Amino acid sequence: MNPTESLPGDRMRAALLSARRSTTPDADWQSFEARFDAEFPRLQSLFHQIYGPGADAELLLVVLDAAASWQDRPADLKAIDASRAMAPDWFQSNRMLGGVCYVDLYAGNLEGLRSRIPYFRELGLTYLHLMPLFLAPEENSDGGYAVSSYRDVDPALGTMDELAGLARELRDNGIALVVDFIFNHTSNEHEWARKAIAGDPDFEDFYWIYPDREMPDAYERTVREIFPDDHPGSFVQLDDGRWIWATFHSFQWDLNYRNPRVFRAMAGEMLYLANQGVDIVRMDAVAFIWKRLGTSCESLPEAHLLLQAFNAVCRLAAPSLLFKSEAIVHPDEVVQYIDRGECQLSYNPLQMALIWNSLATREVSLLAQALEHRHHIPEGTAWVNYVRSHDDIGWTFSDEDAAELGINGSDHRRFLNSFYVNRFPDSFARGVPFQDNPRTGDCRISGTTASLAGLEAQDDAAVARILLAHSIILSTGGIPLLYLGDEVGQLNDYGYESDPAKADDSRWVGRPAYPADRYASRQDPTTDAGAVFAGLRRLMEVRRRTPEFAGGRLVPFRTNNPHVLGYQRPGLLGALGAPESTVVVFANFAETPQELSVETLSGLPESAPDLISGERTLLRPGVTLEPHGVLWMRV
Ligand code: GLC
Ligand code: GLC
Repeated sequence: MNPTESLPGDRMRAALLSARRSTTPDADWQSFEARFDAEFPRLQSLFHQIYGPGADAELLLVVLDAAASWQDRPADLKAIDASRAMAPDWFQSNRMLGGVCYVDLYAGNLEGLRSRIPYFRELGLTYLHLMPLFLAPEENSDGGYAVSSYRDVDPALGTMDELAGLARELRDNGIALVVDFIFNHTSNEHEWARKAIAGDPDFEDFYWIYPDREMPDAYERTVREIFPDDHPGSFVQLDDGRWIWATFHSFQWDLNYRNPRVFRAMAGEMLYLANQGVDIVRMDAVAFIWKRLGTSCESLPEAHLLLQAFNAVCRLAAPSLLFKSEAIVHPDEVVQYIDRGECQLSYNPLQMALIWNSLATREVSLLAQALEHRHHIPEGTAWVNYVRSHDDIGWTFSDEDAAELGINGSDHRRFLNSFYVNRFPDSFARGVPFQDNPRTGDCRISGTTASLAGLEAQDDAAVARILLAHSIILSTGGIPLLYLGDEVGQLNDYGYESDPAKADDSRWVGRPAYPADRYASRQDPTTDAGAVFAGLRRLMEVRRRTPEFAGGRLVPFRTNNPHVLGYQRPGLLGALGAPESTVVVFANFAETPQELSVETLSGLPESAPDLISGERTLLRPGVTLEPHGVLWMRV
């Protein structure tokens, strides 16, 4: 084939036949061809937009890989593909509940994790994100985010076969498996990385390597520093004097997606993972995957085209796989990744940050504004709402949004940072600064939910704050994601300070080992662990039986009280086009009781059942909310 000539779909389809194995049943092959016919035009158009028509030879290889991967796909996974095609909104259910943990910290290894499945069922989890568990450099691997092989599990945790077995067992227990797809970079120990720096012509262009500082300097003029504590700028120097792009740690080398062979290689790794039984891949660091001189090299249009192209490849060979985007960036950029054809799921970093903002300020204006203007996302997609992750909390609200409310964004971030690291008078929080950059004024916060909410400081309201924060993620719509251990109020772990591989990464303070003593006392409500656990269990149970909490439809409710957040979650529409029932939510972020006036509540009935307490609440003459009190009322 002439490499500059574009290949029409029918010639690709003919070429595909060579990939069919004699053992593949007709129906199986036909389903692949049907998906090829439906998806190929989109995939090819994306490929042309990214790489130009000259890359069709590489595209053909991508498609042939997909055909092979489909034929390798185990029958039970093909059955899941078929059933999810019939129920594509399966992840929108109010029964969805996520949990996240590190395999080693939470359970030792994959075998240990299996033994926790009964507990996951007790909690009602339907989604389990296992933090990176692949082969990685021994000393420091950024918590596994520096991958040396996508096809090998870290031997300390187990084997790929065990992971596939675990995926099956989780599925039998109604739990979808989520793992990271760390596709922006590999570790410096990855085979591709070794070959690239050794000058292997097949791999040289897999990374961004420059002989001197000219190009690095040019790029760094416009690129933000992500881990300035590790190295300034975005490049690190190799032993031979050359420079290589490393957005995160010096041992995490960015892949060069301008090379279509990188796309093909990573698509292969993704499909390999999908065939182990992974249901959802968390697309790590999506904002950084495309670079262009003179730009911030974040969230460029090609980053979206690449994600869509990966998505189209999945539709061919692992059709039920979902993508969750990890874009912890400006809210205008976060939503750009959310689309049925791109990432169906996305972290909701804005809601996360603003929950903490409201706990600090005791005011809800920014959070209410975000629910009003930034909550709505396209049909067929969902937020993943969380109180905190394994990472830092960054104050990613928009300065323009803040200005509308009379808040100066940078001053306010400074306040929040000092509040959460306990440098502000009377702060209840015990967070630790992360990547404190005096040069740019940038700083983020590390810590566990309980320590940030006041439990470490033995603040009386800590338990109520923890419950309030979770009540928001459980009721705004989307998949709530619990950081496992937070449900028993785990505290910061300062042990990282004496581990040289972790000492300069304060995120470790928020990644404690399985808090065995707290779990042991979780049934005793007189302990902190028990009080948090009982309260959260209740909220999670109520969510499970509240169909109004399915999907993402949310209507703001003006409470006319600066401390009280209000919103309505309409249920299924009845015959007349109006919802048959609605759950009205009120959440008080103040330490004092708060009133909602009878005028404010005038659209509501005289009384309504509160789903959390199970008691009927009178709405005339107005309502008094307890300090940090929450009502979920069905009207
Ligand atoms: C993501 C991860 C973070 C990691 C980074 C680089 O942001 O959540 O932990 O450091 O990607 O892979
Ligand atoms: C993420 C974010 C950054 C975050 C880091 C992980 O991709 O862009 O803000 O702090 O990586 O810690």
